[in-house]
Amino acid sequence: MLSHIGSVLRQARVTFTCSKDLLYQNIEILKALLDKTTSEDVNLSSQFQSEELWKRPNKAPVSYIDIFEDDNFTVGIFVLRPGMKLPLHDHPEMFGLIKVISGKIKVRSFSMVQNETGGSKGFFKKTFFKDSVLKSNVVVVEKCDDIILDKNSESCILEPDIKNLHEIESVDGPAAFIDILSPPYDTEIPLVGPRKCNYYSTLSQVSQNVFKLQKVGCPSWYWTDSFQYTGPDLPTEIKAQVNK
Ligand SMILES: [Fe+2]
Repeated sequence: MLSHIGSVLRQARVTFTCSKDLLYQNIEILKALLDKTTSEDVNLSSQFQSEELWKRPNKAPVSYIDIFEDDNFTVGIFVLRPGMKLPLHDHPEMFGLIKVISGKIKVRSFSMVQNETGGSKGFFKKTFFKDSVLKSNVVVVEKCDDIILDKNSESCILEPDIKNLHEIESVDGPAAFIDILSPPYDTEIPLVGPRKCNYYSTLSQVSQNVFKLQKVGCPSWYWTDSFQYTGPDLPTEIKAQVNK
């Protein structure tokens, strides 16, 4: 029988390989499945709850469990040490879904401000605009409301133009969330180049909710280690894709 996480992966593949006109309805189906996903569905190890693990010398403040990755999407689990955060980062031209499965997180998100007049029209202009934004070291963003999520919360979604930058912090203890991203980092953005994860710090405040952010290097306090996925076997067609 197909496991629940297997159904999530199958739907993620449908979602991120379908035609553009079906994308949003497939994201909704994926979100509904992800909303029902629990730590038991991925067999999240209880060691992440123990203080002992996080106090180990040289333990990375964030652990990553890779569940699946191909050219279209990635699925993994981030586990944050108590009081730790993923630094403010972006997801260039990507979609993402986050579902908390253990603990509680605070998400601070920002949306890119399109331009002074509120949007560019036409494919060529849009491509040109995105090219300049993606390559720029300073970006103008609008802050969204902070949200607190726990295992009972719905998944949150980011899009290329909506909530594309975020910082995620564990609240009141360790926290774990499933992260689905498409396309994956390091794939090619047409006319721009490799899809890199950029980190940011605040340069200035432009108005109440609008900020200028500057690209910075990955902060020295942030690094990850990897743990093996120990959940149910993935559907055979998904596994076959990985082994190709
Ligand atoms: Fe992220």
